[in-house]
Amino acid sequence: MKRLALLLAALLTAALLPASGHPVIPAPASLSEQPGELRLSSGAAFSVTGAQDGGELSEYVASLPFALREAPKGGVLTLRIGSRKVTSDEGYLLTVGPKRLAVEARTEAGAFYALQTLLQLAEETAPGQWRIPCCTVEDAPRYPYRGIMLDVSRNFQPKEFILKQLDAMARFKFNHLHFHLTDGAGWRLEIERYPRLTEFAAWRPYRTWLDWWSADRHYCEASDPQAHGGFYTREDIREIVEHARRLHITVIPEIEMPGHSEEVLAAYPELSCAGEPYANSEFCPGNEQTFEFLEGVLTEVMELFPSEYIHIGGDEAGKGAWKTCPKCQARMKAEGIADVEGLQSYLVHRIERFLNDHGRRLLGWDEILEGGLAPNATVMSWRGAEGGLKAIRAGHDAIMTPGEYCYLDYAQDAPFTQPLSIGGYTPLRKVYSFEMTFPELSAEEQARLLGVQANLWTEYIPTPEHVEYMLYPRVLAIAEAGWSLPERRDYDDFHRRALGAVEWLRNAGYHPFELQKEYGERPESLEPKEHLARGKRVEYRTPWSDKYPAAGAATLTDGNIGGWTYGDRRWQGFLNSDIDVTVDLEQELPVHYVGLTFMQSKGPYVWVPAEVEIYASQDGEHFEHLTTVRNDISTECADLLFKTYAYTGQTKARYLRCVARSNGIAGGWLFLDEIVVL
Ligand code: ACM
Ligand code: ZN
Repeated sequence: MKRLALLLAALLTAALLPASGHPVIPAPASLSEQPGELRLSSGAAFSVTGAQDGGELSEYVASLPFALREAPKGGVLTLRIGSRKVTSDEGYLLTVGPKRLAVEARTEAGAFYALQTLLQLAEETAPGQWRIPCCTVEDAPRYPYRGIMLDVSRNFQPKEFILKQLDAMARFKFNHLHFHLTDGAGWRLEIERYPRLTEFAAWRPYRTWLDWWSADRHYCEASDPQAHGGFYTREDIREIVEHARRLHITVIPEIEMPGHSEEVLAAYPELSCAGEPYANSEFCPGNEQTFEFLEGVLTEVMELFPSEYIHIGGDEAGKGAWKTCPKCQARMKAEGIADVEGLQSYLVHRIERFLNDHGRRLLGWDEILEGGLAPNATVMSWRGAEGGLKAIRAGHDAIMTPGEYCYLDYAQDAPFTQPLSIGGYTPLRKVYSFEMTFPELSAEEQARLLGVQANLWTEYIPTPEHVEYMLYPRVLAIAEAGWSLPERRDYDDFHRRALGAVEWLRNAGYHPFELQKEYGERPESLEPKEHLARGKRVEYRTPWSDKYPAAGAATLTDGNIGGWTYGDRRWQGFLNSDIDVTVDLEQELPVHYVGLTFMQSKGPYVWVPAEVEIYASQDGEHFEHLTTVRNDISTECADLLFKTYAYTGQTKARYLRCVARSNGIAGGWLFLDEIVVL
């Protein structure tokens, strides 16, 4: 009888919290389930004690879908701020018993995160009725910085859209929005001192970035009937910053310098080395007016954004014009600067002094390391983790956002099932696999690793729905990288919770990727390929590129077939080069098939070869021509595609020489994964 009761209790618990576990994202540090449930009805009482926020937390609780009413003390839900049971500022203790819900936290932020967990645990059983499984949650974030970067330059998004994303960010415990407000494709922030930034540099006579990029890349007057684009007024920004603050999110503005600034230089050409529009992408650091402009802009930025961090970009500055510009050269001479990297560093140092003098801190992409890092700067590491680790070792703080895992503009499923994207293949599993454990760092260095950020660049993402589609659910994997302990991280369990989150997002009016319909990796790549050349030696007459070595000399015969992206370490890359290799089968064998598959992806200049020649030899000296296969695919074809160039027939060979001729387009790549011999 007793055993039956226990079994029943276990079954009941299982029905509330499926045996497979809780639904919470990001996974809490500890969640222990107990039998039973709490039934919550709208109109029930809650109380808050110890808050120092002028009633904001109470207002927030009252605004939740539970429709609770505040009481001076007691109630079904009690929230206590200033609790000594919780040691971390953003941590909390949430206890759900059959009759009461209790939240304890040190700060309002901790209580806010307890409420996010509660919202995810609660199930609405009828209008105004919820049930919450009994449990105890002890939780705190692994990292203090958990961010999302949104690029609103390439394609502008309205204020309402930003407010909506902040709501979802809060639900998943993100605490920073990095707002990429300026870039070559458009300036998005009202600056009173420089009105041409929003009268002109915020507008393009094309609907999308891609149309504009494919045409003359010019801007137009806001009054032009063809004008597309937009900007945030000072009032819009105040509203966004305030909405974020109430959700415990800091908005970090990014003002790009010295590169990615074509739009500024079209509006104020005197700030470029050429002194004319549409000539340079970089500010002229030799010109004192450049600093007057940047400091003027940053002064207004600091009025609008209370964030301690101000992001100054710093990435991908082409420094060619500086080498011949008389003003830049004069500056370098006067300051004793040896090279143009030093000139960029001069600009970053000067801007850092300006920000520090105003009580702010400089944040920049990892290129700000080049030529010497400014003394108090924090680095955002996007070209892998190395830049961040270097900054940390040098005593700086860093935020990790390596492109391979954290760039959400890459396709999230088999590209043929997806809208046109910038390329790549970064499915949820790949994003989730980013683990920020760096054993090489000491405990003190670990503390300078502030956290992690997802980046969404929007060149190929014109609409608000499409932005959401790229964000969700992949940002949830980043939420978990930033919040959850490594021992709580398991992809299969996360995938189950992500399916639930996708359903919630859809019901809440977002447009997530339909994770339940995921197609997955390129089928050919799932199993190793058995064939006659597998494991055999390959002699290279043309070197592979250091950027894409794959498995080095073993690549073309290791049996590993490439996946949807050339970045998967299975495709070997050759830049501005043919491929000329010979496979040694070690003995003469009957050969019926020699196949080479290449990838084409127009965006990053990856082309299938113009032709492939295949030769056979018994002695490695005298080669017989077996076939030449020519390309029949246009370079204009925008889709990702694969083309196999193959010999089929009957021959005998010990050596097989394969020559793939590039189409000769400068900057073009060939990518090959395997030479399959049957
Ligand atoms: C970047 O992707 N250029 C930071
Ligand atoms: Zn110059």
